[in-house]
Amino acid sequence: MRTRVLSDLAETDLCGRRVVIRVDYNVPLDEGRITDPSRVTASLDSLRYILEAGGHPVILSHLGRPKAQVRPEMSLRPVAALLEKSLERPVRLLSLDEAEDPAADEAVLLVENTRFLEGETRGDPSLARRFAALGEVFVNDAFGSLHRAHASVTGVAELLTPAVAGFLVERELHALSALREKPESPFVVVFGGAKIGDKIELVDELLERSDRVLVGGAMANTFLRAMGYSMGISLVEEDSVELARSYLSEGAALDLPTDLVVAPAPDRADEAIVVLVDSVPAGMAALDIGPETQRRFSRRVMEAKTLFWNGPMGMFESRPFAEGTLALARAAAEATGAGAFTVVGGGDSAAAVREAGLATAISHVSTGGGAALEFLAQGTLPGLQALDEVSER
Ligand code: 3PG
Repeated sequence: MRTRVLSDLAETDLCGRRVVIRVDYNVPLDEGRITDPSRVTASLDSLRYILEAGGHPVILSHLGRPKAQVRPEMSLRPVAALLEKSLERPVRLLSLDEAEDPAADEAVLLVENTRFLEGETRGDPSLARRFAALGEVFVNDAFGSLHRAHASVTGVAELLTPAVAGFLVERELHALSALREKPESPFVVVFGGAKIGDKIELVDELLERSDRVLVGGAMANTFLRAMGYSMGISLVEEDSVELARSYLSEGAALDLPTDLVVAPAPDRADEAIVVLVDSVPAGMAALDIGPETQRRFSRRVMEAKTLFWNGPMGMFESRPFAEGTLALARAAAEATGAGAFTVVGGGDSAAAVREAGLATAISHVSTGGGAALEFLAQGTLPGLQALDEVSER
């Protein structure tokens, strides 16, 4: 059996029907401006297909982690404007209450941030029923959110039939399945970024599946703290230190930084210095990997025949601390050029390869970070399991 996909549907499944489509518009914003529109662009194939078949899309997405509060800075309004331009038709941004009673017109409906609503992240069944009542068909094209058992992801899928995967999800699964099925050795996995709690539990599984695991960014800080180093005011996920310590005591073969770029704050780059990991001064935070680590990690990446990279090596958004991440992006591109199969996933690492102008030099740039990792580790995702299945073609 396989997941049923959008192209499995007959035109009559879509024509004249309201199609609830979950997408992942969790885009980076800078004062209301979308700094990386790729998640929006990646949703257009499915939306255009539904529109061309005569369907009426009702779009659901989260943005950020507003914790059931209406936070204007996390509104989908900038996305609505971009979508309207890209689809060349009106897009109406509505609250869920308004969407439940829409005036019948030709607009594409975009429901405001699902995480403004109480119950979304708990997978509340009554909220799922409200989402399901918005249409007659469900399409999940939110690859980046498939690892979340939320009301707009799994809840609504269980209530609507048909419930199918969109084109983006299909493309992502195709690329990531190649990493699970006989990856060519050496298979190198690179972990970074700040969402440590989500990822650290997968380290075990990834160590088994790959030949080498490199750890940088805030995730490395947590491991370095577990080794007993004082990390100054670096971002350390205290709740994960014990787990990090248990990996290390089991002899986990992790490659960790040996030197770091530290500064008192991201906006005080003029005070940045390079230190060894055992010499982080009090009052300083690790904001990038150091030059020695940069060279060693780059070398490992260039040796890879298969690469999966999730999460930046430092505070990539702040230019002076982007060096480690950009060096890895260049190494990944070089490995691809030498014949490796390379996948980069996660908002910031994907942004880094794009910013370095190297996105086309990577085999696959995934729109999902946590979801890609979890799929790689476990071979399925809650949001996928909730969709219809059909027998193999
Ligand atoms: C992501 O950016 O990885 C996805 O949109 C999921 O976001 P989340 O980690 O806040 O659930």
